[in-house]
Amino acid sequence: MSTAAPRCDRTRAWGALQGHYEAHGRDLDLREAFARDPARFDAFSLQAPEVFADLSKNLLDIATRRFLLDLAAECRIAERRDAMLAGEAINSTEGRAVLHTALRAPRGAGPCSDDVHGVLDAMLAYAEHVRNDGGFTDVVNIGIGGSDLGPAMVVPALDAFGHRGLKLHFVSNVDGHDIAPVLRGLDARKTLFIIASKTFTTQETMANAAVARQWFLDQGGTDINRHFCATTTNVKAAAAFGIGTTFGFWDWVGGRYSLWSAIGLPIAIAIGAEHFRALLAGAHAMDRHFADAEPQANLPLMLGLLDVWYRNFHRFTSRSVAPYHQGLRRLPAYLQQLEMESNGKRVDADGHALPLATSPVVWGEPGTNGQHAYFQMLHQGTDVVPVEFILVKQAAHPHADLHRKLLANGLAQAQALMLGKTADVAATENATTASPTLDRAVLARHRSFPGNRPSTTFVLDALTPRSLGALIAMYEHRVFTSGALWGINSFDQWGVELGKALCNALLPRLDSGDTQGLDGSTAGLLRKLVA
Ligand code: F6P
Repeated sequence: MSTAAPRCDRTRAWGALQGHYEAHGRDLDLREAFARDPARFDAFSLQAPEVFADLSKNLLDIATRRFLLDLAAECRIAERRDAMLAGEAINSTEGRAVLHTALRAPRGAGPCSDDVHGVLDAMLAYAEHVRNDGGFTDVVNIGIGGSDLGPAMVVPALDAFGHRGLKLHFVSNVDGHDIAPVLRGLDARKTLFIIASKTFTTQETMANAAVARQWFLDQGGTDINRHFCATTTNVKAAAAFGIGTTFGFWDWVGGRYSLWSAIGLPIAIAIGAEHFRALLAGAHAMDRHFADAEPQANLPLMLGLLDVWYRNFHRFTSRSVAPYHQGLRRLPAYLQQLEMESNGKRVDADGHALPLATSPVVWGEPGTNGQHAYFQMLHQGTDVVPVEFILVKQAAHPHADLHRKLLANGLAQAQALMLGKTADVAATENATTASPTLDRAVLARHRSFPGNRPSTTFVLDALTPRSLGALIAMYEHRVFTSGALWGINSFDQWGVELGKALCNALLPRLDSGDTQGLDGSTAGLLRKLVA
């Protein structure tokens, strides 16, 4: 990121935050904070387009917020944001602009509008053609990373809006156990394959595309043009593969920011053009909020600041995402790429080693399933993990009682994390449930909860294309904010290159068994695999 704006740790506000953390921040007790300030919920909740956020169960007070906003001002986050929105080449190591926001700007409003809307119109017309064709029953998207995770997350999330006669499949892994069961259930005459790859060189995607094409021919398929299309910036390579129907995009669309581009074709086929435009409109509304809202009321900005507060002062190493909506089951995986590929960096934009921690580990499962797996650790483990709850007011199914139970569970988990339970309270309960062999005081300690564990709760009125678009854009801008504060380039991903190169070098050795020149462990493992 080429900018003269200072890195967060080189600002005056950083020192002030450090002093504040040591004097008050570290010891803030949420239960006391609510007791002191009955208006805390209102003071720390925000309404952004489509997304309400309750930040009041986070370890911050008015002073923390003021210092964090000072930090944002000193790091000139607003200028950096404007540079991104204006199409400056802020991806410095690749010399590229970062313009995913242009993909959801209304016609005539954003940079490159003619190009963007030209492809969008063509892509949506094609999606409608597939939906109305009547000859297709299955659509298989073959892509990985950003060419998979966005559509693979959005399509189930918007199941309520999905075409009932079309089944969407996502194949990403080079492991044949991914594509084989998908192909097993398909009829080649009724299947459309989308080969999704920004570069059209990614090993996994090219290998799976070749398997799909061969399978199609083996099934007696002849019309590749009807049954294969591509979404890529490398139209030439798609043509060389034999694909005539191609929807392009541009190098200023990062893979993990690409679901708004032609990469969104599976989404458009699933939900139709009108709903796809609503998805874009929701994201655009969040873009405008990020661009225009006052800092204190700016949700992505506040979330990015909170991330820095937790990572660098409280030193929390991870954040857990708990969507209380089964349709959002792929959201944690999607966010892992968005956040950890963007901000998992150890040098700043000038190449200097960073003296501070960057991306946390992001992980999670839908509620309530996570409750019966790892929530034990969240409540009573030794690490504090901030949790993010996503609650959706209205369900898209008729089972009202299930939905009430789901919402009660989400609320209860956030409440339990914050309130905890003392050993004294637990001891009174032991009167009826104590094990006969265990000292009551010991059992009470096992049954106590420390509480004061932070969480954020997002509330959507309903999970619609528009609200989902806004939610995703909120996450994108939050990642931008924390990355800009850390002074890193959030838009490259050099960390994935070494493994790719070593894989290419090892591939022929799996045939030859040659271990010459390899380190001892890799040589030993190779011998085990090829013997
Ligand atoms: O994992 C690295 C990466 O380059 C991601 O950033 C990208 O989303 C993914 O590979 C897929 O790349 P492509 O769309 O070019 O196949």
